[in-house]
Amino acid sequence: MGSGFSFTLNATDGRARTGVISTPRGEIRTPAFMPVGTAGTVKAMLPESVRATGADILLGNTYHLMLRPGAERLARLGGLHRFMNWERPILTDSGGFQVMSLSTLRKLTEEGVTFSSHVDGSKHHLTPERSMEIQRLLGSDIVMAFDECPALPAAEDTVAKSMRLSMRWAARSREAFGDRPGHALFGIMQGGVTRELREESAEALKGIGFEGYAVGGLAVGEGQEAMFGVLDYAPGLLPEDKPRYLMGVGKPDDIVGAVKRGIDMMDCVLPTRSGRTGQAWTRRGQVNLRNARHAEDPRPLDEACTCPACRSYSRAYLHHVVRAGEMIAGMLLTWHNLHYFQEIMAGMREAIAGGRFEAWESGFHASRAEGDV
Ligand code: GUN
Ligand code: ZN
Repeated sequence: MGSGFSFTLNATDGRARTGVISTPRGEIRTPAFMPVGTAGTVKAMLPESVRATGADILLGNTYHLMLRPGAERLARLGGLHRFMNWERPILTDSGGFQVMSLSTLRKLTEEGVTFSSHVDGSKHHLTPERSMEIQRLLGSDIVMAFDECPALPAAEDTVAKSMRLSMRWAARSREAFGDRPGHALFGIMQGGVTRELREESAEALKGIGFEGYAVGGLAVGEGQEAMFGVLDYAPGLLPEDKPRYLMGVGKPDDIVGAVKRGIDMMDCVLPTRSGRTGQAWTRRGQVNLRNARHAEDPRPLDEACTCPACRSYSRAYLHHVVRAGEMIAGMLLTWHNLHYFQEIMAGMREAIAGGRFEAWESGFHASRAEGDV
């Protein structure tokens, strides 16, 4: 085994793919779901518990960590892995997307973006060069290029201008990243829902050359049908021998639809965030544990699930702790949701390897249609 970064495609089934990304910090089985650990923690979970759900890699955020505790401080403390007690791979988003959605008083120029922190109002500047430096200080294994992403719907010339700026930033990101064996830089395709813009973006990224390629600018208000419309062709515009990462997606049926269309990696706050508001995702669909119908239900959330929430607790208990605002509610439901998302990924990997993806997908949709969640 080498000590570098590599991607091995093991099998394909239709357009769905399964393989392994190798890094010095461990292997990432694809298709992979990355739990979101925005601020140095997957909220409500210990790292060993996140690993127990089946996660090979976490996502962290440049934007949050640069504001608090700060990139230079994190570097002095030995980097993000040691700081948060997760020694396996970490992918970090580059910050531009979060600046646009979370900060105030933003000012975008060719150089980069100036903004006020959502934490304390302090003023900050992010450029492709500074984003690469921060992600290096964090010790990120997979670094994302610095990009910009308009919310949809947006006028086509707005999307085009933004995409072209992101492509110039992608070239500057590549240049600033330099040569870092064992670490990877991923480019991010933009272009909204316009095929010509997606093609132009893919050509620009391939011309620069990256270790992996993300499809960005989706799940930003366009709806599943429009997103699948783009995913029907976008992965095919990217190199076959490199990982393809769909950013910020999604619900279980979005994830399955994305893998079916050739996506290898995904991340989303959904399992963790909804776990903290009493929402569970199961084989049979979504369950709101706040609902009074669970108040005296002695059954587990999902009798087929082997997670701690389902093995040791009743729906009545989960309902009680959700209603009472107890911390264990968020802990148990986050664990269950992450376990379920990882089970979907494992199921798809196995099905693709066995040439049974279509049958697996039919089973996935059928169990959700049965009702009586
Ligand atoms: N997260 C979800 N979508 C995006 C995107 O388009 N760019 C970046 N950097 N992060 C994202
Ligand atoms: Zn469970």
